[in-house]
Amino acid sequence: MLRKTEVDPLTHRPAYLLLLRRRRKKKKKKQIIRRVRVAMEVERKRVCVTGAGGFVASWVVKFLLSKGYVVHGTVRDPRDEKYAHLNKLERASDNLKLFKADLSDYGSLRSAIEGCAGVLHVACPVPSSSVPNPEVDVVEPAVNGTLNVLKACSEAKVKRVIYVSSVAAVTMNPNWPKEQVMDETCWSDKEYCKITDNWYCFSKTEAESAASDYARQNGLDVVAVCPGLILGPVLQPTLNASTLVLVKFTRGSEDSVPDRLRYVVDVRDVAEAVIMAYEKSKAEGRYICIAHSIKTRDLAEKLYGLYPDLTCSKNYIETQHNNKLSSERLLKLEWTYRPLEETLVDSIESYRAAGLLK
Ligand SMILES: NC(=O)c1ccc[n+]([C@@H]2O[C@H](COP(=O)([O-])OP(=O)(O)OC[C@H]3O[C@@H](n4cnc5c(N)ncnc54)[C@H](OP(=O)(O)O)[C@@H]3O)[C@@H](O)[C@H]2O)c1
Repeated sequence: MLRKTEVDPLTHRPAYLLLLRRRRKKKKKKQIIRRVRVAMEVERKRVCVTGAGGFVASWVVKFLLSKGYVVHGTVRDPRDEKYAHLNKLERASDNLKLFKADLSDYGSLRSAIEGCAGVLHVACPVPSSSVPNPEVDVVEPAVNGTLNVLKACSEAKVKRVIYVSSVAAVTMNPNWPKEQVMDETCWSDKEYCKITDNWYCFSKTEAESAASDYARQNGLDVVAVCPGLILGPVLQPTLNASTLVLVKFTRGSEDSVPDRLRYVVDVRDVAEAVIMAYEKSKAEGRYICIAHSIKTRDLAEKLYGLYPDLTCSKNYIETQHNNKLSSERLLKLEWTYRPLEETLVDSIESYRAAGLLK
């Protein structure tokens, strides 16, 4: 080992020059490694969110941006004013790019997904009332749309896909033992969904099982998150189906309301669950995502307890007892959820601010 003040016997140059060169080389190597790491991190942090302007997806996009992700959001018409809230999100100007894409149009999805390490597939028709042609308007985009997304993911060499399914794909099973808690092994009975005209439940069950088959056959990493009734503050300016459920409570309709068990979860907690399922390498399979199981009448009473000025629905009809559901798997992934009161207060305040309570 030469001292700084000595002379290198091979080159006859002062040793300090040699040491300086070695140090520079080391520094350059470190810089290259750091640059490669940053590039890999940036690559991993580029994700696509389908149906970006919807109730759930808007929160997913907001949280992704706040975590430094670059987001490709698909919307059906980027010029539509109803998506303006997305461009106002923090960091959106630099890190959010909106793509025009429809679930029925493979090419449009393929362009949006190109370059992304992950895809969070949230888009799906969620009708708030019965539709004239459910097979075409609901089932087709849910099932074939999901397959289009997955094929585009395989093509684009996406590392992981999160599919937002629903407890609608879990609970519609009349043969499940009444006292047995429903978990991720339980699937809705497709025939039962059809004969009871539950086309949305049919579409989510068919789409999730098609996604799971596709993943197995094509070696694509697909994780499903199955939320219950999603409530909480809205970012988008329009009413989505589950928000309408709570808004209807505030209208105090005289119609009879079935007093069934609701599996409620906050939209912010769903968005966190979706991102957690993407980020945690050990996540796999499906995750039921519910926070509070509560009967409709109790939910309404809780709401009126917090907001006595709201008009109250009075007529409830007792319905068949439904099964308990468990989010145990998701909790083991370290998912947490907020209290129901917080969800209700934040919901009502945001509806008021958005002018959705008339
Ligand atoms: N809300 C709940 O209580 C709940 C519960 C369980 C699961 N989920 C699931 O969560 C996801 C999001 O639901 P949400 O409550 O956020 O509903 P939402 O606000 O109605 O959002 C649905 C999104 O899907 C998009 N979409 C529908 N059909 C499409 C098509 N053919 N091509 C492209 N995009 C299409 C819509 O786009 P446009 O804006 O252009 O209409 C919208 O952005 C869905 O997969 C739903 O099944 C929701």
